[in-house]
Order: sequence, then structure tokens, then C-alpha cells
Amino acid sequence: MTSTPDPIRVATIGDIDEGAALVVDGDVNGTGEDIAVFLSEGRYYAINDICTHQYASLAEGWVEDGAVECPVHSSRFSLCSGRALNLPATQPEPTHRVELRGEEIWLYPGVPSDCVEED
Ligand code: FES
Repeated sequence: MTSTPDPIRVATIGDIDEGAALVVDGDVNGTGEDIAVFLSEGRYYAINDICTHQYASLAEGWVEDGAVECPVHSSRFSLCSGRALNLPATQPEPTHRVELRGEEIWLYPGVPSDCVEED
């Protein structure tokens, strides 16, 4: 059985602007992969930061309608499910659970989000 890293407090409400993201370094979050925590339409999401197509930081991308657009070749990824919504990327981003505890934003690295995508 593989163990998942402990949850970590990554920010407090107000630290991440609407439409922006905070990157939690892979060494810090324990997965070895950088994780981006996004705020979109008042809700927090976490997916891996590096695009599954080539090398780009999704935290530097454009957030709209619950998705982030890669700044390099414009693939969009669902922040809820991590699904690649258009080419050239075809592989989804791993998602991670985010929990609010009062004003604190907690990340559960390696624990998939329970977000359910609306059609
Ligand atoms: S690097 Fe992200 S779509 Fe190509």
C-alpha cells in the first residue's frame, strides 16, 4: 500500500486572488510534483501544476469557467476533474483534495478531489 503525505495548511482565505493560483512545491507537499491551488468563482481547487502536454506551469495560465488554460499551447484543464478539455494535451492532471477549516486552506496531497463535474 502506498501512503499519502499528511495534509498541509497552504494559505488562508485572501492569500489567493480570484482566478489565480498558489504553487506548493513538490518537496513541500510530499508528492514530488508541484501542486497548484486555484481559486475560481469562490471555490478552491488543486491540480498538478505542470501541464501534461509539455513543460508549462498551469498556475501561470488563464482561469475561466472552472478551467485553466495552459499558457504555452492553450489546452484547457477542468479544475474540478483535471480532465484535458482540448488538444494538444490529452492526459488529465491529477487532482488533490482541498478543505477549508475556518479561514485556513488545507491541501491533501495525493488524495483525489471529490469534486463532481457538472455537464
Ligand atoms: S505545454 Fe500545455 S498545452 Fe502544451
